[in-house]
Amino acid sequence: MILLKRPKNIIRIKTIKNKSAIEEFNNWAKIGKDVGMENGHANSVSQMINIFEKRFDVKNVKSMLDLGCGNGWMLRKLASKYSLDVGLGIDGSVEMINKAKKYQTNLDYLCADITKWKASRSYDLIMSMEFIYYLNDPETVFNNIFNNAAHKESIFIFGIDHYKENQDSLSWPSDLGVYMNTLSINEWIDLYRKIGMKDIEYEQFVTKEDSEGTLIISGIK
Ligand SMILES: C[S@@+](CC[C@H](N)C(=O)[O-])C[C@H]1O[C@@H](n2cnc3c(N)ncnc32)[C@H](O)[C@@H]1O
Repeated sequence: MILLKRPKNIIRIKTIKNKSAIEEFNNWAKIGKDVGMENGHANSVSQMINIFEKRFDVKNVKSMLDLGCGNGWMLRKLASKYSLDVGLGIDGSVEMINKAKKYQTNLDYLCADITKWKASRSYDLIMSMEFIYYLNDPETVFNNIFNNAAHKESIFIFGIDHYKENQDSLSWPSDLGVYMNTLSINEWIDLYRKIGMKDIEYEQFVTKEDSEGTLIISGIK
């Protein structure tokens, strides 16, 4: 057998493969880190609820979709606060969804990759906390949600902590080894405009000194 030696001037580059966000958060759920995440996101979600009450007609909202719902806590919170008739939480992590299903509620939880999911009905309120920047192609996913899971006047409220202006969050993709789509505030707003969302408003809700805050974008179909 002839062993071929690698020439000295050729450098081998080791590529480090990112984990998928679903894989990462499945591990978080296994070791109970979903609860810390719930606590960490609670103030921002309270502000998202304030925006919902301030901007929209809450009494018309009877159904809700929570995208990237984790253990389902945000959907449970809104469903009990507003006595929703219908609620669906979707997450790709089976561990997160198993935790969500442990609660006795009238809510549905589905383990699915949102990039491949198609809604079979529409929802009055579509919310998401700390999920959308894990999407490689948010425009295609938003178009799908906008066209299949929303009706005229459906309300959208999305919160994210990872975005270009929030310097503090820019190391997260390499810290976690997970792909994140790092867009600026304007890029996110343009994207919502492009899919046809109306009455778009945004705010940065600051809870920590060293952060630009949670970017909360809301609008209607
Ligand atoms: C940062 S966690 C936020 C969870 C929850 N919204 C919360 O505030 O506690 C992001 C969640 O998005 C889910 N996720 C990421 N990419 C997904 C995809 N393509 N389809 C479905 N779920 C996804 C992860 O499994 C994870 O539970």
